[in-house]
Amino acid sequence: MTFAATILTLYPEMFPGPLGVSLANRAREEGKWSLETVQIRDFAADRHKTVDDTPAGGGAGMVLRVDVLAKVIDHARGLHPDCPVIAMTPRGTPLTQARVRELAAGPGVTVLCGRFEGFDERIFEGRGVEEVSIGDIVLSGGEPAALMLLDACIRLLPGVMGAASSGAEESFEQGLLEYPHYTRPALWEGRTIPEVLRSGDHAKIAAWRKSMAEVDTRSRRPDLWERHEGARVQPASGARQKKKD
Ligand code: ADE
Repeated sequence: MTFAATILTLYPEMFPGPLGVSLANRAREEGKWSLETVQIRDFAADRHKTVDDTPAGGGAGMVLRVDVLAKVIDHARGLHPDCPVIAMTPRGTPLTQARVRELAAGPGVTVLCGRFEGFDERIFEGRGVEEVSIGDIVLSGGEPAALMLLDACIRLLPGVMGAASSGAEESFEQGLLEYPHYTRPALWEGRTIPEVLRSGDHAKIAAWRKSMAEVDTRSRRPDLWERHEGARVQPASGARQKKKD
């Protein structure tokens, strides 16, 4: 099955961009995913092709008009009725690897990219659009965020990454950062490779990697660590912990 990526944008020339090289490009040539861009401006009603207007209540910047957005989304839904529509916005739910996995397992995704101050808020409920952020940073538009979202999905598509794509040991897959990696030379500028990795003892290596993943997650990402520990103490199965008296 081909994963259908549809991008609604004012800058279609930004695509495929970095997805036109390497792994993602090969996967597209092999038909594992498809890319279609739709110019939002084509759905403007007036002869000036206006897509934005000043914010209600005043203030800086411009806002994408809800009527134009509705038309372009309806067009995209006609093309791919089963694909979720996701708007890239710093106000959205932070993107997670779990959501990426869900999307990659589905028929594709329609991504709405904003510019200016953002979208007229009414579009989200009015058209059932999910709002997603790629992090607590503000980009000049949703396009680079859309490229990130697609990159994360494409590498998980069946056959795209070969053996490496099992992904079970990757960062975030167990709710932890991945352990650190090393390769030759064994000695570089006075720095060595941890001895255990050269021991050939696979059980010991696995234990070291697990411990490093935990140590690094705890120090670098206390937020992830807390969630990981919470999930361990209170499993997702819903099994209740014994209440403390
Ligand atoms: N558009 C602008 N900033 C963004 C962000 N952090 N995530 C998603 N889309 C954006």
